[in-house]
Amino acid sequence: QLFRLEDYRPTDYLIPETELVFDLHPERTIVRATLVVQRREGVDISQPLILDGDELKLVSLSINGAPLGENGYQATPDRLEITDLPEENRFTLEIVTEINPTANRQLMGLYRSSGVYCTQCEAEGFRRITYFLDRPDVLSVYTVRIEASKQQAPVLLSNGNPVETGDLGPDRHFAVWHDPHPKPSYLFALVAGSLGSISDSFTTRSGRKVDLAIYVEHGKEARALYAMDALKRSMKWDEDAFGREYDLDVFNIVAVSDFNMGAMENKGLNVFNDKYVLADAETATDSDYAGIEAVIAHEYFHNWTGNRITCRDWFQLCLKEGLTVFRDHEFSADQRSRAVKRIAEVKTLKAHQFPEDTGPLAHPVRPRQYREINNFYTATVYEKGSEVVRMIRTILGPELFRKGMDLYFERHDGEAATIEDFIKAFEDAAGLELSQFALWYEQAGTPNLSVSFDYDAAEKTFAIEFEQSLKATPGQNRKKPMHVPIEFGLIGPDGREIVPVSADGMEVTGNVIHLRQRNETVRFTGIEERPVPSLLRGFSAPVTLASELPREDLIFLARHDGDPVGRWQALTKLLTGKLIAGVKRVRGGKAPLIGVDIVGLVGEIVADETLDPAFRALCLTLPGESDIAREMGSNIDPDAVLASRDALVKAIAVAHAKPFAMLYDALVNRGVFSPDAASAGRRALRNSLLDYLSVAEGNPSRAAAQYHASDNMTDRAAALGVLVHRFGGSESAAAALAAFEARFGGDPLVMDKWFSGQATRPGAAALDTVKDLMRHKLFSLDNPNRARALIGAFATANQTGFNRADGEAYRFFTETILKIDRENPQLAARLLTALRSWRSLEPVRREHARAALALIANADKLSTDVKDIVERTLG
Ligand code: ARG
Ligand code: ZN
Repeated sequence: QLFRLEDYRPTDYLIPETELVFDLHPERTIVRATLVVQRREGVDISQPLILDGDELKLVSLSINGAPLGENGYQATPDRLEITDLPEENRFTLEIVTEINPTANRQLMGLYRSSGVYCTQCEAEGFRRITYFLDRPDVLSVYTVRIEASKQQAPVLLSNGNPVETGDLGPDRHFAVWHDPHPKPSYLFALVAGSLGSISDSFTTRSGRKVDLAIYVEHGKEARALYAMDALKRSMKWDEDAFGREYDLDVFNIVAVSDFNMGAMENKGLNVFNDKYVLADAETATDSDYAGIEAVIAHEYFHNWTGNRITCRDWFQLCLKEGLTVFRDHEFSADQRSRAVKRIAEVKTLKAHQFPEDTGPLAHPVRPRQYREINNFYTATVYEKGSEVVRMIRTILGPELFRKGMDLYFERHDGEAATIEDFIKAFEDAAGLELSQFALWYEQAGTPNLSVSFDYDAAEKTFAIEFEQSLKATPGQNRKKPMHVPIEFGLIGPDGREIVPVSADGMEVTGNVIHLRQRNETVRFTGIEERPVPSLLRGFSAPVTLASELPREDLIFLARHDGDPVGRWQALTKLLTGKLIAGVKRVRGGKAPLIGVDIVGLVGEIVADETLDPAFRALCLTLPGESDIAREMGSNIDPDAVLASRDALVKAIAVAHAKPFAMLYDALVNRGVFSPDAASAGRRALRNSLLDYLSVAEGNPSRAAAQYHASDNMTDRAAALGVLVHRFGGSESAAAALAAFEARFGGDPLVMDKWFSGQATRPGAAALDTVKDLMRHKLFSLDNPNRARALIGAFATANQTGFNRADGEAYRFFTETILKIDRENPQLAARLLTALRSWRSLEPVRREHARAALALIANADKLSTDVKDIVERTLG
């Protein structure tokens, strides 16, 4: 079935109140739903009430206390249609269903994970619990009573505030929760189990004391302390940055080990993948810490952007997701180094969203149609959605942006809103018209800007000519020109910023050029010397830039741009150009040529003690194999890409071996481990140096020594990576792997690093490694984290191993996807997107990949999730 944005219609009935009673049993849980149903004004009594279901078993049905006759309704596992309705416009409907949480392997609805009952209802999981108007524009006030075994489930949680708890005999007890805030069904949550917890409290600006708790597996309580700290910082930050306060007496977080996504923002009861809660120095890397901080913040921020104001329908998903990602980005930027955070965001966007935009799965930030909504929780909706919000701030400036946000909250609190509502708030706050800008929500694809420059020494003018273009994407052939905000600077030969006397031809506000037409030229006057332009500072728009800037100017920018993002962009452009030239030479049977200038430049930046170590680490880390492939765009031979990259690594490593070794020693950890950004930056730089030094030295000794000397997971995992990726067959690699397994073999979440580390070992041998690891006792295709750590990492982060020229890895992947699809379609569909760029491979691999996709397309009993992805991928 195809769902279309333009088909939206409000429901005939509303459900202002929902009372749920859960009698929890592992295999037979009874759910009694008592709904206050309201017929909307003007709706005829002959209109049936049609409720959504999914694999439900109806036990009984009554209206206003009287059981419904068999002729009064029609029930199937996925639909309940009631025709025998009372005349009153308001009545009570009682539905009893029976469900089996243990058998629920899709991890949608109510399921059991390691003995803990938990729920995931977004997007359409609530209908797997009871029949309901399971759509985001039906808001209801929930009261939930949970009855369960005292021994199996001492902890009983749901949304809102706790009302009552009590005893029900030898091994049963109950708890009642009430959430006063009307919410859509996708925000419902229940957790019941035997869990450990840590607690704390936060007092809001206006004096509400909120009890905070994080629930984890027994024995892991200490590993939740960092998440708690991040939560309190998030609560404070949302008050300071957006004036948003928390609105219940309690806020609970639960970590579970089987979870399809990162986490879920259920009102007052966030449920998390344990990966985004648990951390300590022993088991978590710096990037794990950063991920926890970001996801804790993200889910908390949803309380206002998502929960208080929710989405009218799922086409508006970016209304809550893009905006909330933007908010969590800003939070992390304020907690850490803004420039380093921004570069990390740009890298993520380019790595995940750009390929989506250029491939067969391209869709607008607000899609117009879908077959399976679960397949639209994408980098486009989330990350590009965030970039669009960032552009609104760039265009309006921070004050008007905040004014627009305030207006949005004021107007739509308690409502299910649309993108139009969101844009209107900014238009009204700023007195601006944003209809052209709104195309960012409608047109898929990454715009390309071609830019050329002209300095007129006699007239003292500097002109920049822009041409924007946007390629066709599925379902959209012709595109309109967009409003692209381009942050810029003009840099004089002395490295200082030049302030032009005037700008003609295009709108320029402060340091932003507003590109609106297909072709436009801006002419700056009063420019005494030929400047070097820095465009797209801060990565002010999600576009690609093809500029005519000469190499010397890029080198100049890499050295002197006052914007660190600009410096990094210039360096990356230079490195990418060099790497692509190397790929071409390798494919022609020649060795890559490596110029001394670029090698020197990298060494210079790394040695610059005035720069943040984290920034230097980013500069030292060459574009990855998939970055190079993406920039090449077509006819990719991953082996040649790796050869080119390795050659540049080696040249840099050999040229700077001495200073790199000294810096490596100087950066050694002193004192106790701290996950703060500055310490993490030093570790990042040191671990990047470790890779280069190991290459220069040509042996695994240094990495082995670091592995065994490390007192934290960041350094340990980095050393293990170098050993496995650079010295795969060596005894040192085997010894470190064995030591890791001996130490962390009892902890699957930590062992995920061990699985991914091996799955990403370059070269054809990785496939056998992955097959072996699938038989490991800790591995299970049923657990999403395990599957992603091994299969996901292999397919997305091992270019040479996955894209074997003989196509064997694709065949293995296909079979594995089909196996996963039988249990967990959402996970299978997500993993399958690893093949979305198959058309850009060289012909032999391309044909193997196509054949593998065809195998999936022709398999029987495909889920709608996988069917949708495979059909769109094949096009
Ligand atoms: N709203 C969640 C978040 O971004 C993601 C939930 C996605 N769930 C799903 N079944 N697709 O925080
Ligand atoms: Zn979200």
